[in-house]
Amino acid sequence: MGKQTIQPARALNGGLEPPGDKSISHRHAMLAALADGTSELRHFSSAADCRSTLGVVRALGATVEIEKNRVRITGHGLRGLRHSRRTLDAENSGTTMRLMSGILAGQPFTSKITGDKSLVKRPMRRVVEPLRQMGAEIEARDGEFAPLEIRGGNLHAIDYAMPVPSAQVKSAVLLAGLFAAGTTSVTEPVRTRDHTERALAEFGARIEKEGRTVRVHGFGAAADGQLEPKSFDVPGDLSSAVFFLSAGLLLPDSNLLIHRVGLNPTRTAVLDVLSFMGAQLKIISLECGTGEIVGDIAVQSSQLSGGVIEGQQVAQLIDELPMLAALGPFTEQGIEIRDARELRVKESDRIAAMAENLRRMGAHVEERPDGLRVEGRSAGNLHGAEIDPCGDHRIAMAFAVAALAAQGPTVIRDAECAGVSYPEFYTELNRLAER
Ligand code: S3P
Repeated sequence: MGKQTIQPARALNGGLEPPGDKSISHRHAMLAALADGTSELRHFSSAADCRSTLGVVRALGATVEIEKNRVRITGHGLRGLRHSRRTLDAENSGTTMRLMSGILAGQPFTSKITGDKSLVKRPMRRVVEPLRQMGAEIEARDGEFAPLEIRGGNLHAIDYAMPVPSAQVKSAVLLAGLFAAGTTSVTEPVRTRDHTERALAEFGARIEKEGRTVRVHGFGAAADGQLEPKSFDVPGDLSSAVFFLSAGLLLPDSNLLIHRVGLNPTRTAVLDVLSFMGAQLKIISLECGTGEIVGDIAVQSSQLSGGVIEGQQVAQLIDELPMLAALGPFTEQGIEIRDARELRVKESDRIAAMAENLRRMGAHVEERPDGLRVEGRSAGNLHGAEIDPCGDHRIAMAFAVAALAAQGPTVIRDAECAGVSYPEFYTELNRLAER
């Protein structure tokens, strides 16, 4: 694909069904691989990241059959994974590496897991430390980075107070907890997405929540007790839908309907923030099926006021911050993001990538160690530019949206990186954009 040229548009109109939720797809694929029998996951994410998880569970002995977005996974029970002679490859996917580390920590064999040039630079000590406390032996490059070599086995339960709010760390410890003797608890400083807790309950694990603490009862060394296979419809990915939702808000004549999107309350902070800024968003149907909430959202062109995003909000908006920052120049007061140092260790340094590319389009930006301030409308209109997404899917998509509302064409370099979470993104954008 290489470069993509995005021309300005007048409106985004029509209906959109976003791909299956990436976070939920990862978790269901992993638990299906640990269950005793065949699970069917419908509307499974098309994201390259979730293919990475499927590749890893297949290398560990689960059977994976893919037919479009329907995935059938046959696991051989909690003790059914087998040693892989090949190094496991999480490619670009932090969720694959961190969550699978939890599972590998519970296996009575040694595994090696690595990733692409972005993932091997991302911090792993945050999962390595609690998993070592549980009894796994783990070697990391320079104590921090992948490749990780994990010698699992005989885990014991711990009570873990997480220093950083991270759903991936919480999930890694809970998944390892499945294999431990006793009850493992994780307490988080701020509530993060709870898909792992919900999925564990769906597959039949014993799990309890109390405030910001989650407990999982381990199956220990005794091979009695198993996870049950499940059939499940994965809700649409709100974090992917947010790019279209934002384009609908920005472009003056838009009317967009987003169908069957996940509305789990630990993911919807972005809807609250946008509504607070004046977005005309309406949830027009709600359904609570197996463990997750799904609904339709109607979006209309809106004037956004802008504002400050900080503190506890940040963890709950972490994947939406690139899009929110790119909305900054189109808002009245601009957008300021604080307390978000974590953005520097995502698929790219998202603070630097946002600041650099926004400036290329003519925005006024102040970059800070833990965030950025993007000036609003009064600073002038954005113009098309050549964007370097730094290999980061969410940067590429955020700028494709900003480009729709800018003057003149924008070129997104290495545009195919969007496929890490949303392979159909540009096709859908072209289908819905009216010029
Ligand atoms: C995810 C958790 C978040 C998020 C990532 C997906 C998950 O990461 O940024 O895209 O599926 O658990 P952290 O746990 O590092 O905050």
